[in-house]
Amino acid sequence: MADVIKSLFRPLRIRIPYVIDVIFISDPEHIKRIEASGDVDRLHRFDTATLPWWVRFYFRATRFHDEQRDLWFLALEGAADPSYGKRHAYLRAKLGTGYTKADVERIAGLLKTNTAEDVFAHELVQVVNRRFLGEEIPMAVTKAAKETLQTFGEALLPWKYIHAARSQRYVANYCARTLPPDVQVLDIAHNIGTVVKTLTRALRMVQDNLETPVEEIFTSHPLTLEAPRIAVRSSKLDGLLWFPTRAGWTVLIFKIGTAATKTKDLFFTFGTGRSARACVFMDFFLAFVSDVQRALRETDSDRSRA
Ligand code: HEM
Repeated sequence: MADVIKSLFRPLRIRIPYVIDVIFISDPEHIKRIEASGDVDRLHRFDTATLPWWVRFYFRATRFHDEQRDLWFLALEGAADPSYGKRHAYLRAKLGTGYTKADVERIAGLLKTNTAEDVFAHELVQVVNRRFLGEEIPMAVTKAAKETLQTFGEALLPWKYIHAARSQRYVANYCARTLPPDVQVLDIAHNIGTVVKTLTRALRMVQDNLETPVEEIFTSHPLTLEAPRIAVRSSKLDGLLWFPTRAGWTVLIFKIGTAATKTKDLFFTFGTGRSARACVFMDFFLAFVSDVQRALRETDSDRSRA
């Protein structure tokens, strides 16, 4: 009976020998268990050149990988990566300097006046990323960041893919030119892209839901839907699979968005359901969007009193 129940919950797997092997995991408990098992790790646990072809193909056109310098964003670095501690501490310290009341008022003001998307994204990038670059990030950079890929489906459209890969190089080159030499270029290039593509969307959602607590908004409508991992040893994932994974070849996609809506746990909106290796930006994000929501609510009630 236990086996029958288990087979009902078997994850979806697309496996074509020598071509692709990818497993989708949506169940929150499975995600947590597999993450803690040591059977999987972040993609860059393996050298870029040895990763599955489709991983290299897709990620070079996203904000998570810089092919020219062979750099990966921190979230994709393996557990034992020697640079992890220093990079993590740097990002935390920089974000720890917070934001100002004037930042909140400016962003709330832009939302109220329905500012054009590109201008809004550009202003938001300054709030989060000026601290890293030490200057106003040019509009050409924030516009390029918007063009990088967000889903694998987009990679199948050749013109979109070529444009995205070029845009990603443009943002990474700007960061390489501008950042102090000891800062990892892609950690910051990623942050520009995420603000343009995700934080802008998040603030529009807040504007449309002024009375809903932000925790509720972002667990009902999570912002990041998937997190990738790669098998580091042969495993049937505690009986979930018919055939074992292959180290360095089988990719797992944790459907963290589905897990967030099921559990209402913000640690699935910003990670894999636990505080370890959750998004470094999470606390900043929750405080900032709550403050903007409050500012928007206050102007709404001022207007109705007038
Ligand atoms: C609202 C926008 C954002 C969302 C929804 C988001 C979501 C996430 C998620 C789900 C992860 C975990 C990925 C994984 O487990 O594979 C993550 C990791 C991370 N995020 Fe964010 N993120 C956002 C913005 C940012 C920004 C703006 C920064 C930096 C300024 C940032 C820095 C990081 C870092 C450094 C990690 C890796 C943490 C680690 O591995 O220890 N995130 N983020």
